[in-house]
Amino acid sequence: MASRDSTLSFGALIFFSISFLRCISDQAEAAVRKYQFDVQVKNVSRLCHAKPIVTVNGRFPGPTIYVREGDRVVVNVTNHAQYNMSIHWHGLKQYRNGWADGPAYITQCPIQTGNGYLYDFNVTGQRGTLWWHAHIFWLRATVYGAIVIMPKQGTPFPFPHPNSEQIILLGEWWNSDVEEVVKQGTNLGLPPNMSDAHTINGKPGPLFPCFEKHTFAMEVEPGKTYLLRIINAALNDQLFFAIANHNMTVVEIDAVYTKPFTTQALFIGPGQTTNVLVSANQAPGRYFMATRPFLDVPIPIDNKTATAILQYKSIPNTVLPKLPRLPAPNDTKFALGYDENLKSLNSQQFPAKVPLKVDRTLFYTIGLGINPCPTCVNGTRLTASLNNISFVMPQIGLLQAHYFNMTGVFGTDFPDRPPMPFNYTGAPLTANLKTSQGTRLSRIAFNATVELVLQDTNLLTVESHPFHLHGYNFFVVGTGIGNYDPAKDPAKYNLVDPPERNTVGVPTGGWTAIRFRADNPGVWFMHCHLELHTSWGLKTAFVVEDGPGSDQTVVPPPKDLPSC
Ligand code: C2O
Repeated sequence: MASRDSTLSFGALIFFSISFLRCISDQAEAAVRKYQFDVQVKNVSRLCHAKPIVTVNGRFPGPTIYVREGDRVVVNVTNHAQYNMSIHWHGLKQYRNGWADGPAYITQCPIQTGNGYLYDFNVTGQRGTLWWHAHIFWLRATVYGAIVIMPKQGTPFPFPHPNSEQIILLGEWWNSDVEEVVKQGTNLGLPPNMSDAHTINGKPGPLFPCFEKHTFAMEVEPGKTYLLRIINAALNDQLFFAIANHNMTVVEIDAVYTKPFTTQALFIGPGQTTNVLVSANQAPGRYFMATRPFLDVPIPIDNKTATAILQYKSIPNTVLPKLPRLPAPNDTKFALGYDENLKSLNSQQFPAKVPLKVDRTLFYTIGLGINPCPTCVNGTRLTASLNNISFVMPQIGLLQAHYFNMTGVFGTDFPDRPPMPFNYTGAPLTANLKTSQGTRLSRIAFNATVELVLQDTNLLTVESHPFHLHGYNFFVVGTGIGNYDPAKDPAKYNLVDPPERNTVGVPTGGWTAIRFRADNPGVWFMHCHLELHTSWGLKTAFVVEDGPGSDQTVVPPPKDLPSC
């Protein structure tokens, strides 16, 4: 009896301690994560070329932000560089709080040289890998880093817990000053010079000169499992990524869990993130990780392969690594098949809340074009448009203009469909379709369910475009090659477990349908995440109205919001 009693009270004690610990950890969950970001110029060298680059805290890539779901993040950004700056927390929803989103002239005026701004936001309902990057000019070429969101304390991953984890940031490197390269392109009316190398964690690897100092290596121990947090921070390239002899199991994309699937190679667009599990289950040795672009149209591109090394513990550096087999650069079938494998986990704990009924149907065509430019080399300048409108950046933040009801900054007459239907993906069209220019947005009622079909066109050329929406995740309910057919295609939608993400590829000469519920009031940018196309005008924004509740309105702007 005595022993049983003591067992009981011991059990009660354990129960009590667990509840007590929970209390403590609940408090810990509401942690404030503070970071200081000093934007500063630093000399960095790659491919035997040294140049000054803009960095955060002198680091390239920049520092990682670690948070737990539910935390508040406060980043004090101080701009010591000669450029105006703004930082975007790519994929974070910023509920009611567009002031912390970051795209220059959309949700804020840029932070001028010598000034600062406090980005203050909560991370709720998201866990996984996201990233941050400069959102002005092409400065994100060197100003970027990872965001790791751990699940709430006591909530395990819905996949086997890895022994360790590693961030893999894929990027691009130019030997010349990127802002100068862009300026030159704009003046000529042509695409700026392409990058000189791709990089893995800022390093191009042994297939490039001066690689000795610039090769990333990751040490692994036989039998252990690793979570790789892979981020495509490249400016203009959709990428394949593979590790020699090692399969990868995809478990999460854009900070949303997926149904696990195993693959030899990843396909990842700029802006997208992918978490994979990798087991060190091969003969101990050295294996290359490699990345190289996907492009299935004859457009010039930096097609060079960046490599890093997966290195088993105590294997000497003299062992020559093996290269993985990457899909061919134009392997459309692989790219489409890969995307088809992505499905939301859609478990009880992590349901896919796909809008089944649509309040607002939008159809946007993606087009390239040529505008007259008397000072340019050919007398023309390349441009890009949505529904034949090339977006013009305003002089002040659109969110400010919206919040303070300023007139004359933007219109809300962005058309729900193209002005004139045509055979979007037929023979190449080079006719002057009179692309118009304007700061035109689409107004969306609070909480409306939106379906947006993005349709690629053969204006000049078809091409694949990774589209990114700020302020939301969306569900990718359908995709196809050719012209979208409103009579037939919706029947083929996946409304059960479609992938949920913030950036999606519209296939070359095809279309993609996304759905989201407009429950986040504010002004939210949407653009092609190929920086080249964004700068040509392939962008617009949604003005999502306030809801009726006092907790459904845009919060007041912070006092230190930069002015233009
Ligand atoms: Cu990652 Cu508007 O961008």
